[in-house]
Amino acid sequence: MVVPEPGLPTAVTIYEVGARDGLQNEAALVPVEVKEQFVRRLLAAGLPVVEATSFVHPTWVPQLADAAELMTRLGADGVDLPVLVPNERGLDRALELGLRHVAVFGSATETFARKNLNRSFDEQFAMFEPTVARARAAGVDVRAYVSMCFGDPWEGAVPLEQVVAAGRRLLDLGAGQLSLGDTIGVATAGHVTALVEAFGAAGVPADRLALHFHDTYGQALSNVQAGLRAGVTTYDASAGGLGGCPYAKSATGNLATEDLVWLLTGLGIEHGVDLDAVVATSTWMAGHLGRPSPSAVVRALGTA
Ligand code: HMG
Ligand code: MG
Repeated sequence: MVVPEPGLPTAVTIYEVGARDGLQNEAALVPVEVKEQFVRRLLAAGLPVVEATSFVHPTWVPQLADAAELMTRLGADGVDLPVLVPNERGLDRALELGLRHVAVFGSATETFARKNLNRSFDEQFAMFEPTVARARAAGVDVRAYVSMCFGDPWEGAVPLEQVVAAGRRLLDLGAGQLSLGDTIGVATAGHVTALVEAFGAAGVPADRLALHFHDTYGQALSNVQAGLRAGVTTYDASAGGLGGCPYAKSATGNLATEDLVWLLTGLGIEHGVDLDAVVATSTWMAGHLGRPSPSAVVRALGTA
């Protein structure tokens, strides 16, 4: 039954990260033709944004070493799909293929900047500066992620002002949208509200923000609810709850797209996604990965 909650947004954009955040963390290498089919099925299910892969160093993330081949196979259907690029080399690889949307990914903490990007906190911005500037000059849209926004496995609690400062620097470089990552899934609802408000107080409105939750402690949907109440209308999610980060201790699956769709549908919030088609896709992918989806909704509705 649909029971709207007054004051929530009427429509939300689901930014699907299963093919990137999900598959980057799988021990098994997924064949490129399976990835192509995964992306095509997600698009066919009505997901408006499907992040496809990463142009990172292939020895850092071997799971996505086939990025160029995947995007070539997707052809014209791939040019508007966002891809991760950490630096100018990654951007060059994306530009060679005519891609139109990239995402840089920074860290709110010193330790994770070093572990994930081999750069200090400050050096990461020096790496992003020419990357974002050249992307913008080429007419390419740039999203920026900030990781460890709610806690870091090495540094513990991360102050709100440290996250806001990192986010502001990425926006000042020219990123259009900022995705706030709960990389290890430790956020709780009040913390989400406080962070969105802190960005608002620093002049960054909720419509420039996306929220990126991992579901390690089962809080992702509750955190989405807090984000909706704070006016955020873009949520990252991963089909079947695939995901994690190979360079973050204790990062587990992302918020499952199906769980998010169930919540939004119940609240009467428009999302444009065919739930049955995503469940079927995740069930099919679970077969390739050799383990069932952790998503409660996939378990309830799926056949595997
Ligand atoms: P580095 O070793 O410092 O690289 O790695 P470098 O700049 O010193 O270059 C060394 C060599 O690598 C050079 O080659 C470069 O050309 C090459 P050489 O001259 O020696 O022959 N190289 C590249 N090759 C291909 N593609 C590239 C590239 N860059 C350099 N893009 C680097 C620095 C950033 C490259 C490395 O640390 C890296 O690739 N890190 C990626 C880690 C990653 O992908 N993590 C997962 C994504 S983040 C995430 O999951 C969090 C998120 O979901 C949000 C959340 O949950 O919080 C987004
Ligand atoms: Mg992530």
